[in-house]
Amino acid sequence: MGREIIYLPETASTQTTAMDMARKGSQEGTLVITGKQTEGHGRLKRLWVSPQGNIYMSLILRPNQNQLSRLIMAASLAVSFAIENTTGLIGELKWPNDILIDGKKVCGMLVENDIRDGQVNFSTVGLGINVNTDMQSYPELKGIATSLINHTGKPVSCEKLIVSFLHEFERLYLGLNEYGECIFEMWRKRLITLGKEVDVTSGKDTYRGIVESVVPDGSLKIRLADGNLVHIVAGDVSLRHA
Ligand code: BTN
Repeated sequence: MGREIIYLPETASTQTTAMDMARKGSQEGTLVITGKQTEGHGRLKRLWVSPQGNIYMSLILRPNQNQLSRLIMAASLAVSFAIENTTGLIGELKWPNDILIDGKKVCGMLVENDIRDGQVNFSTVGLGINVNTDMQSYPELKGIATSLINHTGKPVSCEKLIVSFLHEFERLYLGLNEYGECIFEMWRKRLITLGKEVDVTSGKDTYRGIVESVVPDGSLKIRLADGNLVHIVAGDVSLRHA
């Protein structure tokens, strides 16, 4: 992973650049990094605030079926381990692919797949990690986002964090072929969403209930107040009491 690294001092979005490169045939493991994004975006086309000082990167992958089904688990764990290795802080995982510290978002992840004739042509894993920006200075993100420096009180090396992520991710991603169940278990154990009362939006539907279990494919089972169980494959979850 990261044997080919494209560094752009500033770009619209590493995700858009990486997807263009993947379409043109860039190899698995190619990493696009930038210092600053002008059109950083997240899931559901939300704006991703992208000033200088943080990590914005997108990794091109060409996963097989085993790897595709648990890509988010491997990437989330790798970010969480890299944060711990570099700062000693524990990043908690919030379904489906957010990483929180103290209940606030420190990392967001955007996984996009290009499927051709039922086969994965490529996937891009876009990561935004708030590292050295004081996220409290953004009124619209107050109480929602945090950064590593907000917890360490001193600057954190983006380079060390990226190297650690690539190392951890390569190990987990390759391991998905043989040890997928184990990686699922590690992910499940760090998932703070389990057992919590949540509001879920999935397509046009919204639900409130308790997260009862997480299925090995990464989907959630939620027990509603009326006793019914709903199965959520994709959606947005907010914890009612973080
Ligand atoms: C989310 O939480 O909704 C996902 C945020 C993903 C942001 C990253 S930053 C690098 C890459 N480029 C983008 O435009 N988005 C992703």
